Amino acid sequence: MIYDNILDTIGNTPVVRLNRIAPDHVDLFVKIEAFNPMASVKDRLALAIINDAERRGVLKPGQTVVEATSGNTGIALAMVCAAKGYPFVATMADSFSVERRQIMRAMGAKVILTPAAERGTGMVKLAAELAEKHGWFLAQQFDNPANPEYHRQTTGPEILRDFANRRLDFWVTGWGTGGTLTGAGEIIKAARPDVKIIATEPAGASLLGGADWQPHKIQGWTPDFIPGVLNREIYDRLIPVEDADGKANARRLAREEGIFVGLSAGATLTAALKVAEDAQPGSTLLVMLPDTGERYLTTYLFDDLNQGSDDEWLAEQA
Ligand SMILES: Cc1ncc(COP(=O)(O)O)c(C=O)c1O
Repeated sequence: MIYDNILDTIGNTPVVRLNRIAPDHVDLFVKIEAFNPMASVKDRLALAIINDAERRGVLKPGQTVVEATSGNTGIALAMVCAAKGYPFVATMADSFSVERRQIMRAMGAKVILTPAAERGTGMVKLAAELAEKHGWFLAQQFDNPANPEYHRQTTGPEILRDFANRRLDFWVTGWGTGGTLTGAGEIIKAARPDVKIIATEPAGASLLGGADWQPHKIQGWTPDFIPGVLNREIYDRLIPVEDADGKANARRLAREEGIFVGLSAGATLTAALKVAEDAQPGSTLLVMLPDTGERYLTTYLFDDLNQGSDDEWLAEQA
């Protein structure tokens, strides 16, 4: 298939059945956003925000774009800006993985780190200050309506198309900006009101559940505030998930299904398996998997993997 531009390859991600992890009484499918060109769901949001700003005339040719990001949005914006010829600056808490910074820099972006102690709020504040001071365009993923709108135009319709004339009982997603939950969730709810929408978030930072925010390990999920674009009315059930369960299930996806994804994907699967426990036999679940495992090689997700040779294992072989 020939494309005119890398940006034309964003979206239309595959839905894949889980064959070994799924409990026998349900059909369990995953939508793998790592098939986007920069390997996360945030490619959609980045393209949406830049296209919308161009259309509205608020982003001028050659103007610098700035955004606060836990990584995936920055990586996606770095790609979109490189392809369209805009300089890009990311502000990012220094707790997020090193490979995220380096990918952005490899695509020509500048990365300004903020102290982890200042949380998501710190990097958002710095991005706004830099935009004001230098006249840069602020992408504002947490408040920009172009974010959920793009999921209304793409992610939601893709799911409806793929499950047309098929059973779908549950759609399960986490939230970072809430763009996926809100945009795709609204479209699914409008077209198929019987589909139950399941939202999930870190158990240690269950903001939608009314708890206080505490640091958690699920990069890309749940900043220390509820974003402006998030529609709190759209989900039917909220399932908080422990970091460790997310890790275990991300690792299971890799080992048992050959699907290599990040921690938030494992956490979303954790919520789906919980739903499956008391789902009617024959139920169908669709789970959003937001990004690739390659973004986490130096993190908690893979911290127990051997970095040297597997000699001990070899010695034990008959
Ligand atoms: C790794 C990861 N998982 C999940 C999400 C959630 O996506 P959304 O911003 O659409 O809520 C994001 C983005 O925030 C992410 O980077």
